[in-house]
Order: sequence, then structure tokens, then C-alpha cells
Amino acid sequence: MTNTSRVKLVFESDGRTLELPVMQGTLGPAVVDVRSLVQHGLLTYDPGFMATASCTSCITYIDGDAGLLYYRGYPIEQLAQHSSFMEVAYLLLEGELPDAAQKLAFEQSVRQNAMLHDQINTVFRGFQRNAHPMAVMVAVTGALSAFYHESTNVFDAENRRLAALQLLGKIPTIAAMSYKYNVGDPFVYPQNRLHYVENFLHMMFSTPSGPYEVNPVLARALDKILILHADHEQNASTSTVRLTGSSGANPFACIAAGMASLWGPLHGGANEAVLKMLAEIGDVSRIPEFINRAKDKSNAFRLMGFGHRVYKNMDPRAAVMRQTCHEVLNELDLNDDPMFKIALELERIALQDEYFIAKKLYPNVDFYSGIVFRAMGIPESMFTAIFALARTAGWVAQWHEMLSDGGHRIGRPRQQYVGPTRRDYVPDRNH
Ligand code: CMC
Repeated sequence: MTNTSRVKLVFESDGRTLELPVMQGTLGPAVVDVRSLVQHGLLTYDPGFMATASCTSCITYIDGDAGLLYYRGYPIEQLAQHSSFMEVAYLLLEGELPDAAQKLAFEQSVRQNAMLHDQINTVFRGFQRNAHPMAVMVAVTGALSAFYHESTNVFDAENRRLAALQLLGKIPTIAAMSYKYNVGDPFVYPQNRLHYVENFLHMMFSTPSGPYEVNPVLARALDKILILHADHEQNASTSTVRLTGSSGANPFACIAAGMASLWGPLHGGANEAVLKMLAEIGDVSRIPEFINRAKDKSNAFRLMGFGHRVYKNMDPRAAVMRQTCHEVLNELDLNDDPMFKIALELERIALQDEYFIAKKLYPNVDFYSGIVFRAMGIPESMFTAIFALARTAGWVAQWHEMLSDGGHRIGRPRQQYVGPTRRDYVPDRNH
């Protein structure tokens, strides 16, 4: 980050001035370095972190106005078209695309880490069968910290790499087991002969009673979805992972914390909410009614899959996802899928509506992903779990980057206190 200029803060009360450095990254807005304010008894106020850069990062760049998303400088559209999720996971973690030997070694290491300690099965059995897969994933991922605690020195780069491989390998297994437990099927163990996505589909859909063939078109579509969801700079769950990890906490516990944050309907839970909304709309004729509900300030309803904190233009991931949706429905002979028709029409109407135009609300990545998942036979309750599986690549990369930074400090936001001032405790006040 280069130090380009300074801003001057003038206190109207006494004419005092303070100068703050302005720093410029390689891309994106300049950042005012406010760290010295605390020496002057001042804090900044920014609930929701609308204007706060919590860290410097070399991993992901978003230009929300232009609708751009780069991983390590590579545009998301190019990665979705030409790369694979494993290659992208390597890129996010190591900073460069792997050569053929590095890619093979990385994939093999991830595969070799796919098995879970057998004792973990008993953790699953503590849950009711109808438990939401995300509840199970948060708990089981957190529980794995008990199995890899003493062995993990988070301040050692090689140890962090090993933890990253363990997490990339084990999260798909946990996700698939959460699903199998939910539907009452026996667990299916990972197969080292299969590639990452094929292995996940195998663990989700095969049963001991018959053969299961992975459809290559669907495997490629899922691989693309994982690439699109792999990282998104400092969003709520990634910031949670960083904040949790900043204290030196166990990586499995950090990723479990990130999953908990992701689960919310305003974040990774949105794809599930989109499908529920499309089912509730039920017919294109009812779209105007739902658009009006979304615009009505007295109604809490929001058009799920629309809007984004950073994108004030088309989410570039949504464009790739819409195309993937076409490909999957075509492959499965589902071109007349009524939900896809409702989604396309809803997008068309909303994009012409003054309210959505004025507030720059465009479809986000989750608007189409649910339709693709549903067509692939993935149940709604697993949508966020798959998002979590993809985002693990970003979480481990961001966690590794944070701890690699020599100037790393524990994350500790401050507050503006607005509660009662000092008062004295009165004993016997009820008598
Ligand atoms: N439908 C109707 N109005 C909306 C919507 C929506 N989907 N999104 C935002 N608005 C309105 C909101 O009411 C507010 O209006 P006003 O200024 O009059 O109060 C204005 O637009 C700004 O909204 P905000 O909530 O202040 O914006 P935010 O940056 O805090 O929230 C968001 C971003 C994604 C949480 C929000 O747009 C939303 O709730 N969208 C629906 C949920 C969704 O699709 N989430 C997935 C996000 S993408 C996946 C991921 O990265 O996690």
C-alpha cells in the first residue's frame, strides 16, 4: 500500500487540526489511515462497516460499481470458464496458479484428507434426524478442533497449510454426511480415485445398494458454482473467520464460526430463501404483488436474491450462474422449469422498476444458484452447506494471509457507549 496524500481534520470547536495519511492499494478506493485518532481520544463510528477497511489483502478484489470480481487478479468469468475449483483453491491460498505437478500434488493432498476420524460418527448421532444440515456442519466442524488441536500451531506457515488441506478435504465429507444423516441413509465414505466434485456427488447420492454414475455436465456445473462462491473479500463470514482467528484460535473452530455467520438468510442462507420465495410466488401473474411487497416500507419482505452491500451493478457471478442454469436445465431436459420462468420474469420486471433502479438492486449470485441446485436433485436445506464447502477455500486463504502478516494483531473493535452513566447500587431496594 503506498502513502499518497493526507487528509486534514479540523475541529470546529477550537480550530485544532489533525492530519491523517491516505493510502492507495493496487486497485480500488483510497483508504484513510485513522489509527492515530485514538491518541487524540477519538474513535470512528461505522456500524455495519460500510466505510471501513478492516485489513489489507492480496486475495480478492471487487468493484461493486463496475460489477467486477477478481481472485488474485484473475476475472471470475475467466476462472469459471477455464479453471477448476481445486485450481482456484490453490490460487487463493498460494497466490499463483499451480503448474501441473503442483496441481496434482494439491489435489492428492486434499483427497487424502477427506476421511474423518471414526469417532466423529458419534457426534452425528447426537443430533435429531431432522436437524438442519448447517446446524450439524457448524457443530461437527467445531468438534474436529478437538481432534486437531495440539498438532496445530497456527503461527507456523506449514502447519497452516496442512490445516487448510485438512479443511478442504473434510468439509465436503461433513456436508455429505450431514445430508445422509438427515435423510436416514448410511454414510458414504470418500473415494480417493474421484476428483473433488465427483467425490462430493458420490458421497451425497450413491448408496450401498446400487451403482452411481456422476453426470459430467452436472459435475462441471457444480465445479463452476464452487468457483463462483470460493471467496468474496471481507464479507460477514470471512470477517468472522478473521476475527475468530485473530486470537490464535484453532482453525476448525474458526471455520465453524464462519459457517455460523454464513448460515443467516442475509448472507449464505439467501439461496434457500430465494427458492422458497419463488415457490411462494408460484406463478408469473403474482410477480407484481411480490414486487409491491418488497417496495412497501411497512412490510419486512425483501426480494431475496436481489441487492448486495458492495455490488451496485450486476453481480458478475449472477451472470455466470444464469448461463449455468440454462446449461443444467438443458442437460436435464427441464427447459420449461416453472421456477426458472418465474425467476427470469421476476428479474426482467425488477430491473425495469424505478425502486430497484434507484436503489441499484440487481440479482446477486444466489438468485439462480437455488434453481441449479434443485435441478441437480440437491435439497434446499443443503444449499448453504454447499456454499460453505466452496467458501472454505476463501476462508482458509484469508485466515492464512492474516496470520502470515508480521504486523498481525487481535481484532478488537471499539464502540460508542450510550448506556446509563455511573450510578450506585442500592441494596434492599425491594423492601
Ligand atoms: N428487496 C427490497 N429492498 C431492498 C432489498 C431487497 N432485496 N435489498 C435492499 N433493499 C433496500 C432496503 O430496504 C434499503 O432501502 P432504504 O434505503 O429505503 O431503507 C436499501 O435497499 C439499502 O438496503 P440495505 O439493507 O441498507 O443494504 P445492505 O447493503 O445493508 O444489504 C443485502 C445488502 C444483501 C443484505 C440486502 O440487499 C438484502 O437483504 N438482500 C436480500 C438478501 C440476499 O439476497 N442476500 C444475498 C447476498 S449475496 C450472497 C452473499 O454474498 O452472501
